Order: sequence, then structure tokens, then C-alpha cells
Amino acid sequence: MDSTPDPATARGGDAVHADAPPADPADLVRSWLPGEDADTLLMTVSTVDGEGYPRARTVRLTGFDGERFLFHTDARSRKVAELAADPRVALTILWPEGTRQLVVQGTACAASDEEKARAYAALPPYLKQLAWLNTAEHATLPRSERERRWADFARERPDPPQPHGWTGFAVTPHRMLFWASTGRAASRRLEYARSADGWESRHLPG
Ligand SMILES: Cc1cc2nc3c(=O)[nH]c(=O)nc-3n(C[C@H](O)[C@H](O)[C@H](O)COP(=O)(O)O)c2cc1C
Repeated sequence: MDSTPDPATARGGDAVHADAPPADPADLVRSWLPGEDADTLLMTVSTVDGEGYPRARTVRLTGFDGERFLFHTDARSRKVAELAADPRVALTILWPEGTRQLVVQGTACAASDEEKARAYAALPPYLKQLAWLNTAEHATLPRSERERRWADFARERPDPPQPHGWTGFAVTPHRMLFWASTGRAASRRLEYARSADGWESRHLPG
């Protein structure tokens, strides 16, 4: 029998495979997040476009406050217009090693000014510069011009302040679906659905 510890289980046990799941899914989210480095996780944010089609894109998960999942973006982006029309959203987070996935369905609302400022302050210089230069007009420029403007901006403003267009969202879940593999048994999912009495959970096949 293979005695190599399963990487998911080795990181503190995986409640998806435990016989008794935690009553509060937030405990499971916290145990899956990489501590202080939560913003190293990427997630797919799916919104609903004006024709009713899902539209998905990758963003960085910028935090989890014990209830809500946060991400930050440009106020002029399509996701922001779509969320203004319909705040229902799905978040799909895949852990890099491919042994865990979390799908959240919920409702997005604007992050607070403090949450936006904290997320902006934590960005590396490249992403702060991107928050300034990543405009529709800039995207249409020839490559040489984009490189020139980028170099000029980075030289003049190596640590630019938060731009007006910087915004963020906090997603409050009403359903959370945790998927985990083990290598020792079939993958399975643990679904939590919010009810009037709190959270109800059930197991589903992977
Ligand atoms: C690895 C990766 C990380 C990204 N992180 C973000 C992010 O945190 N925020 C963001 O607005 N866009 C991020 N993007 C760009 C988005 O995927 C997307 O192209 C952009 O937000 C515009 O999307 P929209 O027009 O659908 O609103 C990232 C892209 C990649 C590939």
C-alpha cells in the first residue's frame, strides 16, 4: 500500500473526506486557504452578460473575511457593468496542485473603501502600474507606443497611488461546493447550501 501522505490530507486533514463535515463551511475555507498568502490564489469569476450567457475570467482572490470572498478590478471593466445589472456570480477556485476545487455561488456587492485601499496597497509595483495604464485607449496603441508609455510611467511613478478606477467586490455565498481528491478513494464533493437555519450539507460524487 502506498504510504506517501496525500498532499491534501497532509496539510491538516481534509474535511471533504472526513465522516463528519464541519457545521460551518467558513472553517473549511480557512483550512484550505494558504494563510497570509491568500492572494496568491486565482479564481474564475463568472457573471451573466446582457444576453444571458455566462462570461468567465480569471482574477486574483484578494481575501476571505470569514464570510465573503473578495476580488479587485477596474471599474470600467465588463464584469463591473454586468454585476451592476445582475449581482449573481459564481467563483471557481482551483488549487494549483489540482487536488482541491471550490465553487461558490453567491451575490456580489461593492467592497468597502478600506478593503479596496488595503488590496491596492498590497499590490506589487507592476500591478499598480497596470491599474493605471490598462485602459481601452492604451490597448489600441501599437506595441512600440505601449512599451514607451509603460517605461515612462514606471520611471516617473514607480509606486503610483490608488487610481479612481480601482474597485472591488465582496461575494456573499449562498452555496459552496468543495471538491477534493485523495488518491486513496474516489474524489467527492461536499456541498453547503444556506437555509433559514444556517448551512445544510450533503456529499456528492466528484
Ligand atoms: C493570472 C491572471 C490574473 C488576473 N487577475 C486579475 C485581477 O485580479 N483583477 C482583474 O480585474 N483582472 C485580472 N485579470 C484579467 C482578467 O482575466 C480579465 O481579462 C479582465 O479583468 C477583464 O475582464 P472583463 O472584461 O470580463 O471584465 C487576470 C488575468 C490573469 C490571466
